[in-house]
Amino acid sequence: MTGDLRDRHGEVTVIAAPAKVNLNLRITGRRDDGYHLLESVVIFTSFGDRLAVGPATSDSLELAGPFAAAIAETSDNICFQALGAFRRAGGQIGPLQIRLEKHIPVGAGLGGGSSDAAAILRYVNQISESPLSSEDIQSVALELGADVPVCLQASATVMRGIGEQLSLLAHPLRGHMVLARPDVVLSTPDVFRAYANGDVPFSQEGEDSLSALPTELVAGGNDLQQAAISLCPQIGQLIDDLGELTPANHSGARHVQMSGSGSACFALFEDAESCEAAQRQLTEKGYWAVATEF
Ligand code: C5P
Repeated sequence: MTGDLRDRHGEVTVIAAPAKVNLNLRITGRRDDGYHLLESVVIFTSFGDRLAVGPATSDSLELAGPFAAAIAETSDNICFQALGAFRRAGGQIGPLQIRLEKHIPVGAGLGGGSSDAAAILRYVNQISESPLSSEDIQSVALELGADVPVCLQASATVMRGIGEQLSLLAHPLRGHMVLARPDVVLSTPDVFRAYANGDVPFSQEGEDSLSALPTELVAGGNDLQQAAISLCPQIGQLIDDLGELTPANHSGARHVQMSGSGSACFALFEDAESCEAAQRQLTEKGYWAVATEF
């Protein structure tokens, strides 16, 4: 977990918005409103977006970083949505200037927007003279998206329900991973729709999540992976390419998986050097790739 970077430069606070990675993801049911019930162990990487936030005379947002062009500075940006939802729920905060450095690819299943929203909520609730209770801030987070509550924790967590039932892992999960993605933006609702159309039986909830190692958790699989590959065959190719770079365990399994609803995938490695070597090879093949740790 990275948490907030509390470098204060005058009035501006720099906040980390780490990438979210689902080590596994089981779909265990579907609610009447169409949302899917799931069980997923989520970790946060040292790689992520960065926000610089400070007081201003009116709310403003400036975008920078490699994926700035993929999102808009308009009022529907999730940073403004988070501010609006906080104020509507009764939280008091003056106008803010936000500079968002977008490093997490958009539409990749890495929770970029959710983590940005969560970073804003953490910040405003910390500096507000009348902060919201932890229950209220969690419901504001859920209103913004199913992954925002877990991003508010920004620490290894088992999520259930649609993402609102959270159990922090008692033991820290640590590891090295390479994240990679084909140059495709996948829409989360489209992937869930393709999963639902596939008529796959729901998975059972597992009992093992609270004590398992990252490699054991990855073996649990991602129930959305086939649906995402059906919409975007490049994900299947990426998983094969990651498999070629990752050492196999004694049973031949490789610790490679898609995160969330894709299109990003990850591979676990023993050390940072192996991750960096894998990242270089993936970049040469034309993928976006980063070596990171959790
Ligand atoms: O909540 P969020 O905006 O991230 O979800 C986007 C869409 O993904 C939802 O409208 C829904 O179609 C689908 N979804 C789902 N079950 C979840 C989370 C998302 O079906 N647990």
